[in-house]
Amino acid sequence: MIRQLAAPALLAFAVGCGEPPESKPSPEARAELLEELGFSPGQWRRVLSMAEVPDLPPDPTNRLADDTMAAEFGHHLFFDPRLSGNGRVSCATCHDPALDFTDGRRVSIGVSENIRNAPTVLNTAYHRWLTWDGRADSLWAQALEPLENDVEMGGDRVAILRTVAADPELSARYESLFGPLPELASDRVPEHARPRRDGGRDEWSDAWETIDPDLQARITSAFVNLGKAMGAYQRRLVSADAPFDRFVAAVERGERPGEAFPAEAVRGLDLFSGDAGCWECHAGPMLTTGAFHDIGIPPVAGGMPTDAGRFTGADIVKADPFNATGSHSDDREGVRARLVRSLVNSPDNWGRFRTPSLREVSRTAPYMHEGRFGSLADVVRFYSTLEGAVQLDHHQETVLSPLDLTEQDQAALVRFLQTLDGRPLEPRFAAPPS
Ligand code: HEC
Ligand code: HEC
Repeated sequence: MIRQLAAPALLAFAVGCGEPPESKPSPEARAELLEELGFSPGQWRRVLSMAEVPDLPPDPTNRLADDTMAAEFGHHLFFDPRLSGNGRVSCATCHDPALDFTDGRRVSIGVSENIRNAPTVLNTAYHRWLTWDGRADSLWAQALEPLENDVEMGGDRVAILRTVAADPELSARYESLFGPLPELASDRVPEHARPRRDGGRDEWSDAWETIDPDLQARITSAFVNLGKAMGAYQRRLVSADAPFDRFVAAVERGERPGEAFPAEAVRGLDLFSGDAGCWECHAGPMLTTGAFHDIGIPPVAGGMPTDAGRFTGADIVKADPFNATGSHSDDREGVRARLVRSLVNSPDNWGRFRTPSLREVSRTAPYMHEGRFGSLADVVRFYSTLEGAVQLDHHQETVLSPLDLTEQDQAALVRFLQTLDGRPLEPRFAAPPS
């Protein structure tokens, strides 16, 4: 249960699960039902761990993480294309609520073409590391990257802050949360300016160097505040109450599954949490352990993979000026900071990607980091045959072995994966701001 969220949402979730709590079935009756459905007690414990959506993990690196006004401000920023370099791309361009906060493309197109598939931003507050390669350690730090990234929004912090300052509603919201915006007089501050993260130089980074260091620091702090508001917003994007969750709750009450969870889905769950071994990586409430693996997905262009994945991501997050250990973090000694400090990269990380959450998965095609597969049937066929899988020779980790599933079992796994779509706990945040 998500106790940190607003009471009405909690109520909706509880009500959605069914009737008022009844007396528990006798242990014998429950054991009998589980046997009838084909689950051993150990396997059912695994299933239970997948069904319970827990409290949101706190984010003390963002002191406004759970502030509703900050979330409302972030909501406006998320949908505002004026923050991009060309004025046409917002976060919602690639994370569109109509497509479950993805873009439906193989790889994203912003101001230019990305190399990766856009994951949903629903339930991202549960991830320890953000993005496929885990190159950000908080939602607020992650949000700052696409804004200035050359392929996504191609903006710069100076122009972005001027846009906020010029809009009466945005500037009022900013100032009530964070105080006055920095003065950006045109005789002291160029039209466009930002530092480059990769150490390279261009016109905008040269322009940044002309700004007085005190003012640079104030501009960057204000930019970080926008990230913290967007982080607060995205924390409110949680989905729950999927047919799978209801099925588990029903079985716990001693009831047989209803139409929303047909026998085929039960068989799929049995494979998923048992013989097919999916649970080894897709475990826990978001159906991911959060670990990085190379499962040998063949590159779209053919040949050997060129995307280094976690190997690059681990270095980026350690060097990120906005990580939990940095001067903009509100908790530089906490768990998140310790995790970044103790992170050790190794060549073995080459080609690994974060195991994705499978909540909402039937709505977020195409799949895998490069959008390699168009449907869940294709994904399951891959796990079954491992056709075309690439294995990097330096990897200690051996890739999966082919499951050789029957057509029927493949269909059952797909049917199970289709029961993981829930609904947003706070619908007003899952639509553009009114
Ligand atoms: C051009 C399309 C595009 C735009 C615009 C964009 N994103 Fe993304 N987003 C992506 C892609 C692609 C990824 C995966 C990046 C990767 O792994 O390299 C991603 C990843 C993410 C993630 C991590 C999700 C996860 O599962 O770890 C979050 C959160 C996110 N974006 C939020 C935002 C916010 C906030 C904005 C606006 C400030 C934004 N995005 C703008 C395409 C986009
Ligand atoms: C060794 C760990 C591991 C096992 C076992 C595993 N997966 Fe995955 N899964 C991953 C990783 C890692 C990715 C992302 C790979 C990439 O993009 O390169 C992934 C991706 C997926 C995706 C795509 C999700 C998306 O949003 O793109 C689905 C669906 C999926 N797995 C389902 C399954 C099923 C079903 C099984 C069992 C048959 C399974 N997985 C077994 C690690 C695993």
